[in-house]
Amino acid sequence: MTLYPVLIEIPHAPDEKPPERMIKQREYARRALRNCAKLTGAPEDGWTQAEGGAPLPNGEYFWSISHTRGLAAAVIAKTPIGIDVERIKERRQDLFDEIGTEGEWQLLGGKTWPNFFKLWTAKEATVKANSKGIAHIADCKLIQLSQDNEPFTPSSLQPTVPKTATILYQTKNWTIHHHINRTDTHIAALATTETSPVCWNSQNSVE
Ligand SMILES: CC(C)(COP(=O)(O)OP(=O)(O)OC[C@H]1O[C@@H](n2cnc3c(N)ncnc32)[C@H](O)[C@@H]1OP(=O)(O)O)[C@@H](O)C(=O)NCCC(=O)NCCS
Repeated sequence: MTLYPVLIEIPHAPDEKPPERMIKQREYARRALRNCAKLTGAPEDGWTQAEGGAPLPNGEYFWSISHTRGLAAAVIAKTPIGIDVERIKERRQDLFDEIGTEGEWQLLGGKTWPNFFKLWTAKEATVKANSKGIAHIADCKLIQLSQDNEPFTPSSLQPTVPKTATILYQTKNWTIHHHINRTDTHIAALATTETSPVCWNSQNSVE
């Protein structure tokens, strides 16, 4: 089954406050989910969540959403699936050691911010696919990058070029597909155990 992850840009007013920003992000994520359901041929309704927020399967469909300032995402599949989006920006330097090991940074080509977000989104998408929380990131291990994976910078990465990685989590390998949005400001990762083709859909907010 082809996967159709949908990304929607979120317009924010400069004076938007965190609570209204979060409400808007969540709305856009649901809009992305509806668009993804259409593309996937999945039902319009029935997307419910467990008490803690983890998505519950909708019949034969698993799903995942993610939202951050400026971008929302959704994906639907017939096997457990996770998606994560993050804004690429400098964070605290000590986060490198929290998120990855020396071996993982070496595999990625060094401790750069694009590499940081690549690893972070890969691990977070994996824990979400397993309906777990962020604490489980420590149990995820990057074990492989695809052959075409050049040292990664947003400007060198065309959105259509497939870039995959493998994350090992609790004896299972998860294939990670990465995607950079069209303005190079955000990175998305989806985690799946399938070898399905992935067709990313980037939409601006008026589409
Ligand atoms: C789940 C989690 C990793 C999401 O990461 P995030 O960067 O904060 O947020 P994202 O935008 O990527 O994803 C948010 C969406 O993930 C989904 N979600 C929430 N909990 C989830 C879980 N346990 N697994 C998968 N998806 C989850 C929700 O749909 C949520 O969106 P919503 O609040 O609008 O419904 C993080 O919130 C977390 O660790 N929460 C703690 C949950 C926990 O420990 N649960 C115990 C289960 S073992």
